[in-house]
This record gives sequence, structure tokens and C-alpha cells, in this order.
Amino acid sequence: MSLLPPTGLSRGDVLATLADYRAGDLAARGGRTFAYVYDAGRPDVDELSHEVYASFLDVNGLDPTVFPSLLRMENEVIAIVAEHLGGGPATVGSFTSGGTESIVLAVKAARDWARTHRPEVTAPQVVLPVTAHAAFQKACHYLGLEAVLVDVDPTSFRVTVEGVRAAVTDRTVLLVASAASYAHGVIDPVEAIGQLALEKGLPLHVDGCIGGWLLPYFRELGVDVPPFDLSVPGVTSLSVDLHKYAYAPKGASVVLYADPAMRLKQFYACADWTGYTMINATVQSTKSGGPLAAAWATLHAVGEQGYRELAAQTLSSRDRLLKGIPEIPSLRVLGEPEMALVAMTSDEVDVFEVCDEMAARGWYVQAQLGYRGLPASIHLTLTASSDQHVDALLADLGACVETARAAQTGLDPALLEAVRSLDPDELPDDVLGTLLPMAGIEPGAGLPDRMAGINALLEAMSPRLRERLLVAFLGELFTTSAKQEA
Ligand SMILES: Cc1ncc(COP(=O)(O)O)c(C=O)c1O
Repeated sequence: MSLLPPTGLSRGDVLATLADYRAGDLAARGGRTFAYVYDAGRPDVDELSHEVYASFLDVNGLDPTVFPSLLRMENEVIAIVAEHLGGGPATVGSFTSGGTESIVLAVKAARDWARTHRPEVTAPQVVLPVTAHAAFQKACHYLGLEAVLVDVDPTSFRVTVEGVRAAVTDRTVLLVASAASYAHGVIDPVEAIGQLALEKGLPLHVDGCIGGWLLPYFRELGVDVPPFDLSVPGVTSLSVDLHKYAYAPKGASVVLYADPAMRLKQFYACADWTGYTMINATVQSTKSGGPLAAAWATLHAVGEQGYRELAAQTLSSRDRLLKGIPEIPSLRVLGEPEMALVAMTSDEVDVFEVCDEMAARGWYVQAQLGYRGLPASIHLTLTASSDQHVDALLADLGACVETARAAQTGLDPALLEAVRSLDPDELPDDVLGTLLPMAGIEPGAGLPDRMAGINALLEAMSPRLRERLLVAFLGELFTTSAKQEA
């Protein structure tokens, strides 16, 4: 028996079935989901970009010489982004599928730059603030580099230049700073790290995936945004996601380089096989023209004034939240958020319970686990559509903190002890699978409604054990049995 329908389903059946599948998804629009999605509150722009996306879906970015529309759009998008972010006449870049791909490519470029210019470095290292996005560690993992983590200041959540300096060795091939960091929304001291990079002759990548597009508009609106872009001496590359605060549909990011010679190290060509000559600017080979065309359309449909207005709404929501949160007993903001990302914590109430209570009231706020002495927190990614909800959000947050205060939380100490005593590197895969139910995750059942217990247990584990368990969880999650049983 085939899992495919014996004859094709009708258009109506396909659409109805998929609409049904979506019933359990978080809302991507409406402003009540404070992570994963970016809502400009502009249905006109969404409609246009979706139409353009669909119209370019079948065009293949594999070969820019045969689909010149893609080449033209990419060059125009890169020029717009470079101008926005302090690029000079020599600045070049690439359009990629997302922040992670931009970061993987910047790390590859730095690695291959070092291979050419510092061949004596055989075991290269990348120096990263612990607040740098995990995509850098993924890049190091994929590309065979060592990530050297630098702790951040526990009050400001920014890395210090002294901390970075102390981590540099004769094997360092790249420095990294965030503008801004995802977890706490603060900007690392890019100018000072740029000076260090120049002094040591090292490349410096600024991760502006989440902040790069928005921060220049915040500056125009009078916010004191420190210099962070390609105009800062020492910055050699910068990533910025258009599918975040430029509100393009998903699959849109840019990586820029101050020096075209560095970008050449990002590219890949293979002539050593039997097929067509393969030249790839990015990781993907065949790629739909949809995301690029939709990003081009979004940038042009919103325009300068539109982005300024969207930034003003976003800033208003941030400032009202930052004013309201300290009025909620037991809740405090971490650091001084410089962008539109806010992290809150509590010394008296379980923040994971607060997240669950908020979910029960129809808000998605994100739990962030404690790590290396930094507290667990609740993360909010604010967008232009958040502004309309600030008063209701603050009211519900206050109520949820009180419910969480009254809730009986805390894990069984024996369970915590058992988890802490596990050596992640000694656990075979099959034993690891048996730990999932212990963590409250039943194979095949997806995630439970309430995550507080699971988060508390994960937090008690070493990062290494967390990683191993999460990988086992993915193995359980992505399974063909659901389709076979249906
Ligand atoms: C600062 C930062 N860098 C990189 C990324 C990774 O981006 P993506 O999820 O598009 O791969 C994110 C995502 O939130 C981010 O906030």
C-alpha cells in the first residue's frame, strides 16, 4: 500500500487538510507571538510579498547567468543593505537563506582566509561572546573550528574587550560581536573590539542578523545607538536578516564583506566531476527565487518612510514595556535592552511557570534557560505589531506572575541529583532515549502544554547533556510512523 493517495486529491481537499494541520501552530500574525515571527502589521505588504514569492518559486538561483532577474535583484538588495549599514564602495555581499547560513559563510570565509594567509594555523579558533548566537558554534562544528567562549559582564550582558583580548591566541582566525544579542538585546562594544582586531590583524564579524536592519532607524529616531556597522574600523563582515526586522518572508538574509577578496573565500566552485560546472556563492545550490524576489518586493514596498514608521511603533512598544515591567512585583528587566528584545527575570517566581501561564492566556513568550551564572529569563521579541498589545500584555504578565507565585513548583531533589550525576559522554544513545520520558517527553506525543517542568530539568543538566537529550528528542520527533499510523 502506498502512502500517496491513489489519485490526486482535489485542490479543496489539499487546502482543507493543510489548514487543519496548521490548527496547532503559533499565530504568525496578530502581535501576540513574541519570538520566531516578525509582524509589521502591514497586510498590504504581506499580500504583495506572498504574491511575488509565489511568482518566483520555480526560478532557480543555481545559475545566475540563466536567470538574470535574480542576479539583478540580488545586486540591488545587497546595495540597499550595504548603504544602510555603513558599507563603502568596495562592499560586497551575498543573499542567503537566513542568519545561520550568513554566519556559516562568514566563518567559512574567515577559515579559508586564514588557510591562505596564515597556513601555520592548523587548528583554528573563533572567539565568541557566550551571548553570540548558537549559529556560530554550529558553524564551527560543521567547518572544523574550535569555538572559544568568552563570558559577558553579568550586569550589562555585553562582552568586554579585555575578555575578548584574553581569549585570543595564535590560533584565533575570527572575532565576533553581536549587534544586538538575541537573548538580552544588547550591543557588544564593536568599536573597541574593532581596534583589537586591527591590532591583532584579525577579521571581525558583527552579527547584525536581528539588529542590523532596525538599529539605524532607532538611531534616526533619537536612540543612542553605538557604532556597530561596516563603517567601524576593523569590522570585516556583517550579517543582517531581512526576514526579521525588514519584514521579508522567511528565507532572506544578507552577509556583507568590506573586502571583496574575503568574499571570494566564501564562494565554492567544483569542476572535478562529470556534470555541469558548479559555481555556488552560498551553501545552497538549487534555490528558489521566491525568497529573494519577495525580499526585494518588501524592501521596495515599505521604503524608507515605512521602515521609519515601523521602527517608531516598535520603539514605542519597547519603551512602554520597559516602563511597565518594573511595576510588576518580582519581575525585573535584564541589562538595558538597546533594541527591541527584552529579557525579564525574577528572583522569587519561577519564570518558566510564568511562560506557561502566558501561553494559557494566548501569548507566546519564550523561556531562556539559565547558563553560566546568567539567570533564566523570559524573552520577548517585539515588532511593529506589538505596540497595540502592550497594556494587555503587562496586565497578563502581572496576573501570571501571581499565579506562578502561588503554584507549587520545584523538581524532585532526587531527580535533580540523578540528572546532575549523569555523564553525557558516557551515555549510549539507547539509554539516552529512555531519559526522555523522565524529562516529561513522551515519544510520539509531541511537547506537553506545560513546559515549566521540562525547562527546569533541562536547566539542571550540563549543556552537553542537554544537547544530547535534545538531539535524541529530534530523533523521536521526526518520524515516519505518524503518517503510517494515520
Ligand atoms: C543575533 C542572531 N543571529 C543569528 C540568528 C540566526 O538566524 P536564523 O534563525 O535566521 O538562522 C538569530 C536568530 O534569531 C539571531 O537573533
